[in-house]
Amino acid sequence: MEARPYNIRDVRDADHDRVCAVVTAAFGQEDEAALTQRLWAAAAVTIERLAVVDGEIVGYCAFSPITCTPKLDGVLLGLAPVAVAPDHQQTGLGSAMIEDGLMACREQGARLIAVLGHPQYYARFGFEPGAAKNIRWAERDAGDAFRVILDDINANEPRLVHYHPAFDAVS
Ligand SMILES: CC(C)(COP(=O)(O)OP(=O)(O)OC[C@H]1O[C@@H](n2cnc3c(N)ncnc32)[C@H](O)[C@@H]1OP(=O)(O)O)[C@@H](O)C(=O)NCCC(=O)NCCS
Repeated sequence: MEARPYNIRDVRDADHDRVCAVVTAAFGQEDEAALTQRLWAAAAVTIERLAVVDGEIVGYCAFSPITCTPKLDGVLLGLAPVAVAPDHQQTGLGSAMIEDGLMACREQGARLIAVLGHPQYYARFGFEPGAAKNIRWAERDAGDAFRVILDDINANEPRLVHYHPAFDAVS
């Protein structure tokens, strides 16, 4: 689809149904929309962004708190889900939402931002392989798909990342 003018903005409660429809359409299943609802219910969304085209919500991304062992203090966030409605993919909306969300993460002083996903896609935003920084997903070895952006963290000490309990049902 051709790129169209878009707007990236924060999320309001009234957007939730449409966000769930977009997330379900993007993933072709309801698991990630259910995850998003669990995150909202747990008030566990720290930063979230929408993409709007022609007045319609067509994209969504969320950052939620993660924890580390050994413990790390400060703002630590995981990016998930990221979803763009199929008709609007490949038009820059995912990138625009992620960039805007990452800017907000930095404004909040995030020390660690983690993502699980397509390695080449997330590399463009500065996410590096977690293993190269001695940081791994606690659940299992996700290889190059588990990536991180660090700020002021000593990478010599191995650490495990745990997502919010709302993720337990999908991992
Ligand atoms: C992945 C997703 C969020 C990307 O959003 P998008 O708005 O389509 O992507 P953008 O337009 O910002 O970026 C397009 C670029 O990303 C690349 N890209 C898109 N999906 C990719 C993937 N799965 N793996 C690698 N690269 C990918 C494209 O090749 C394109 O590269 P180019 O700029 O060099 O041409 C979107 O395709 C989507 O919702 N997919 C289904 C749900 C999903 O998989 N979410 C992510 C889970 S980790």
